[in-house]
Amino acid sequence: MELTISGIAKRFGAVEALRGVTLAVQPGEFFAILGPSGAGKTTLLRIIAGIDKPDDGTVLIDRRDLSQIPVRSRNTAMVFQTFALYPHLSTFENLAYPLREARVPGDEIKRRVGEIAEMLRLTHTLARKPGTLSGGEQQRCAIGRALVRRPQLLLLDEPLTNLDAKLRHDTRAEFKRLHRELKTTTIVYATPDQLEALSMGARVGVLNHGKIVQVGTPSDLYEMPGDDFVASLVGDPPINLVPGTLRAGAGGPSIDMPFLGLDAAPWRKSLNGFPAGTRLKVGLRPQAIWPRGGSEKGPVFPARVFLTEPLGDVTILDIVVGGDTRLRMVLPQEQAYKIAVNDAIECSIDLEQVCLFTQDTGTAISRAGVEAAA
Ligand SMILES: Nc1ncnc2c1ncn2[C@@H]1O[C@H](COP(=O)(O)OP(=O)(O)OP(=O)(O)O)[C@@H](O)[C@H]1O
Ligand SMILES: [Mg+2]
Repeated sequence: MELTISGIAKRFGAVEALRGVTLAVQPGEFFAILGPSGAGKTTLLRIIAGIDKPDDGTVLIDRRDLSQIPVRSRNTAMVFQTFALYPHLSTFENLAYPLREARVPGDEIKRRVGEIAEMLRLTHTLARKPGTLSGGEQQRCAIGRALVRRPQLLLLDEPLTNLDAKLRHDTRAEFKRLHRELKTTTIVYATPDQLEALSMGARVGVLNHGKIVQVGTPSDLYEMPGDDFVASLVGDPPINLVPGTLRAGAGGPSIDMPFLGLDAAPWRKSLNGFPAGTRLKVGLRPQAIWPRGGSEKGPVFPARVFLTEPLGDVTILDIVVGGDTRLRMVLPQEQAYKIAVNDAIECSIDLEQVCLFTQDTGTAISRAGVEAAA
């Protein structure tokens, strides 16, 4: 099912929940909507589901206006953020409910509920009521209820929020498998968690204050964030944003940071219109900073280790540079074990992984030959 959303606006009193959202989701695509709490994710999904009406704009499903499609033939299912199962019904009856409503014959209900339960690993719970199910089983039951009618468009609103870390990990994999098995079902998946959005979405639309600020593949968003908001949202640990000032020099432009000067050659073309002295933000991914090892491609600077946070396979280091600038870096454990708090170390930056933004609007300044997706 193809989904085309144009110019959707929605206001609740003084709150502009959505401000001109335009998106095109391909048939069978797994599309993630990533945005912080209050960005408008639930509002958008409810409008796509046809539960709420937008103040402005249109939702087209396979090029037909949603408002013209009768509710019964919409073929859309939504799993709500605060899902509610019928507490007095067993898992079997919860899953069967949408089919009974659609007057599907008993034999077929049995077969289809059996299939869905198998797929979602709920078979052992079929006779039990929701109150006796674990959080994850309840969540899967809610998802099963949405899937049992084989919707062509599945809307998922933060479906993993109530699960613990291990179950989240498993369920992420489960969703990808499910999407593969369902083949033609288009999925729109809203989440505030960048890891979920990037690991599952073929494309991700980033929503901020009711506006889509960027749409792209996970690697587009990571490598070419359109602004500092997307840069901060995508990537873990979050990107370091350091103030910088543009300088003109005989050898070409450079960027002064409190602890280091950077050659601005990669951005030269885009920086053309900017006068010397322009304030910038330099985005340094924690993964782009390394202790000096001898084969540096980029510039080297001294640092002092402020904090170490060992996470098992990697360690996050907090370092202080140039007086009082704090930077986060992340190292594989075999490199990090030698480094202790208060050590003086030398680090280097991989210039290829540096992003540049304007200070005032936060808009990305692109590198030569690289355009961020709008
Ligand atoms: N029925 C309503 N009445 C008034 N304001 C509302 C209503 N529904 C949503 N809002 C407001 O609209 C904005 C967007 O809300 P929405 O629930 O869509 O955000 P969200 O991205 O789903 O957030 P979360 O991640 O916390 O679920 C918020 O500021 C919210 O307070
Ligand atoms: Mg929500």
